[in-house]
Amino acid sequence: MSNNLEISRKKIRELDRKILILINERLNVAERIGDTKKKSNLSPINLKVEKSVLDNSLQISKTIGLSEEFSKKIINILISQSLKVQGITSEGRSKYLYGVFEKAKEMTSKGEKLIRLEIGEPNFLCPPSVKEAARKALTTNEKIGYVSAAGTKELREAVANKVNQTHKLEISPNQILITPGGKFGVFAGILTTVSEVNRLLLIEPYWPVYEECAILARTRIDRIHTVLDNSWKIDLEKIKEAFNAGTKLLILCNPSNPTGNIIPEDELKSIVELANDNNVTILADEVYDVYAFKPFKSILETSCNDFIYIQSFSKRYGMTGWRVGYAISSPTTIKKMQKMMQISATCVPEFVQKAAIKALETDDATLTKFSKTMKKRVEIASKELDDSPLSYKKPDGGMYIFPRVNIEKFNSQDFALKLLAEQKVAVSPGQAFGDYTRYFRISLGGSEEDIKEGIHRIVKMIEKWQDG
Ligand SMILES: Cc1ncc(COP(=O)(O)O)c(C=O)c1O
Repeated sequence: MSNNLEISRKKIRELDRKILILINERLNVAERIGDTKKKSNLSPINLKVEKSVLDNSLQISKTIGLSEEFSKKIINILISQSLKVQGITSEGRSKYLYGVFEKAKEMTSKGEKLIRLEIGEPNFLCPPSVKEAARKALTTNEKIGYVSAAGTKELREAVANKVNQTHKLEISPNQILITPGGKFGVFAGILTTVSEVNRLLLIEPYWPVYEECAILARTRIDRIHTVLDNSWKIDLEKIKEAFNAGTKLLILCNPSNPTGNIIPEDELKSIVELANDNNVTILADEVYDVYAFKPFKSILETSCNDFIYIQSFSKRYGMTGWRVGYAISSPTTIKKMQKMMQISATCVPEFVQKAAIKALETDDATLTKFSKTMKKRVEIASKELDDSPLSYKKPDGGMYIFPRVNIEKFNSQDFALKLLAEQKVAVSPGQAFGDYTRYFRISLGGSEEDIKEGIHRIVKMIEKWQDG
């Protein structure tokens, strides 16, 4: 008996040796392919080829009776490793975003007067009734204790009522998770949906948090690069190609951070149809929907079969520091995301949830006022940019502008640091959002004066940069 066991164990070790030798051989071939692509100036990523590699291995697994799910896992890992040996790695980009933010914060704390055009925070104050509700909850509740990880019944019902009224739907409270800001919704949505066995698709430029979450989930990231010269339009053919290669989750930030683009209704409809046909989940981050300056269609109003909708009280009600938002999805997905809350943040504090209920009662006039103010800031910034050497597209919504500096080999990160040191203006470098070294992001969260003066100093600095 023990002799048989030892023989089997020996056999396993020998098989492992053979597998590793074969993997090494495969990687050497991949490296050679990488060299050839470089020499021939071919794109390092070819989704069509990847799809045929996957299909081939699935066919083999079927023939030999190996689990398809397992084969997919292995082949995806092998493809990722092949890309790594070809020098293609996914390094998170949030360092570019938070790097400038932290530096600016440190300078401010030392008393330096800065113009902060990097912060994604509207300077609107939340309605006074919101603070009052939190104060009341803190004074009437003797104990401030744990509450349900899903969120209180009262807030989930209030969110359901509000969403159903706004979008004419019948969402039930068990499809809602109350989260510590929209960011946690994004984090939990990504980590519960993707892993190394599947793939996530980003529309570039993107908020770097999506990419960081995808890296944590160890999933393969595909990107569709969009360009200013084509008005940041998403190429549907590229979406089709990525879906064919096995996308599990597509992230749509609508209105977009950083471009301010709104996906037109007909395009959104086509994307949803493609997602439905390919069993792709759409994570729709609509935290900037209150700032929509042209018709905006929510994912909630489409026929999307499988979505995770992300919303927040931060940008909409001027409540960034309260850390409250919500996600809407199927009860099954919400249960999975709720588990993430349970094992991490536990719950959003009850007094914050009470305040959030009050925020939902904010009248439309106040929200329209916020939106009009933001639109006015867009006009002011655009006027400044129109008189400058920068190229940009006027945002359709959101609270950012993403201009391009028309200088070859311009490095936005170097520029942002120099701008901060010399002109005392903070902006977010384009590298934070993808392959955009000639771009930077301006936030319109601050005052009109700051926006005007900030852009004025930016232009001055660019003219100097151009000369020298
Ligand atoms: C695109 C996008 N989604 C979500 C969030 C999350 O915001 P919060 O966690 O404050 O709700 C942000 C914040 O900057 C954002 O830019």
